[in-house]
Amino acid sequence: MKLGVRTCAGKTHRLAQIVLLLMVAGAVQFAWADDDDSNAGGAKFSPEAAATFNKRCTACHTYGKGIKVGPDLKGVNDRRKRDWLVKFIHGSSLVIKSGDPTAVALFAQFKQQRMPDWTDLSEKQINDILDFVAIGGPDIKPADERNAELALPAEIELGRQLFVGERRLKYGSQSCRSCHGVRGAGWGGSLGPDLTQTYFKFQDRALTEFLRHPCFQWDTAGAGGRYLTAKESFAIKSFLRQAALHQSAHVDAAVPPSRPASAEKASLTAAPVAAAQQRSDRKGNAP
Ligand code: HEC
Ligand code: HEC
Repeated sequence: MKLGVRTCAGKTHRLAQIVLLLMVAGAVQFAWADDDDSNAGGAKFSPEAAATFNKRCTACHTYGKGIKVGPDLKGVNDRRKRDWLVKFIHGSSLVIKSGDPTAVALFAQFKQQRMPDWTDLSEKQINDILDFVAIGGPDIKPADERNAELALPAEIELGRQLFVGERRLKYGSQSCRSCHGVRGAGWGGSLGPDLTQTYFKFQDRALTEFLRHPCFQWDTAGAGGRYLTAKESFAIKSFLRQAALHQSAHVDAAVPPSRPASAEKASLTAAPVAAAQQRSDRKGNAP
């Protein structure tokens, strides 16, 4: 059997555990939470508009990087009225021909280069593009790249719920807790490593990258290769940061700095307990 796992292939016991977990996962009902991936720290935009902008506009326009073939579009919503913009993007040739002074001046300034008429774009699509440009266009960072330091308490709580499986992940991935423990979050599976210290181990940027792909390739097979939404990823990252901070605060407070050895011991006791709990859980559920 060939398994596309990013883990040591020799551990057959572990693989048996994985297979068991997959069987369990297969029985799980998926609930599709309402979630918007195009939510950049509260600023909403249409992903379709972003895609159209990248595909059709960036060949001639920059956002904040100066003139290319046409004008820089940063701030275009401030220098022009919205209805003028919609009309101009939809069919600039007509607006120029009509003698509109702004259009004529632009046309003269850009050395008689003319923007194609975008007649196939609806008024709504053009408005969506302009909304996208208004809130930062290509400078908008994906929501999962926000630093976890900036998380609101509600986002950390969402991360906890997703991690432990109180709330389903949008694309139906297994909850993290079925394989991972985090101290202070109750029972956790022992197939994957304990993640209490993970935020410190990876740091923000690398953890963001890591969470873009599942720990196991097959986990996303049923969801067209999709894993976490950006919002879910950010929430889980924030939860892991809080868990790591809690842990270090706990150890710092409970153990005098002169005795680091016992700090280590204290932080190790939870894992075997979780593993034992998991084992008895399985026995209890066996048919
Ligand atoms: C082939 C090059 C080209 C492409 C592609 C292009 N534009 Fe333009 N755009 C121009 C030029 C050149 C101008 C200046 C006016 C003129 O000469 O027609 C312009 C002007 C504009 C203006 C007015 C800017 C201002 O300062 O008032 C807006 C808004 C605009 N374009 C938006 C878009 C959008 C949105 C797209 C993608 C759907 C796009 N453009 C694609 C070349 C292009
Ligand atoms: C089916 C079991 C399973 C599920 C579900 C799972 N993981 Fe994992 N995860 C693993 C295993 C096993 C490893 C270790 C992989 C290795 O050693 O190469 C791992 C590794 C990791 C690591 C790296 C830890 C380190 O210190 O190197 C992180 C971070 C992680 N998982 C996060 C998550 C998050 C977040 C979720 C939920 C969205 C999740 N995992 C869901 C099994 C799982």
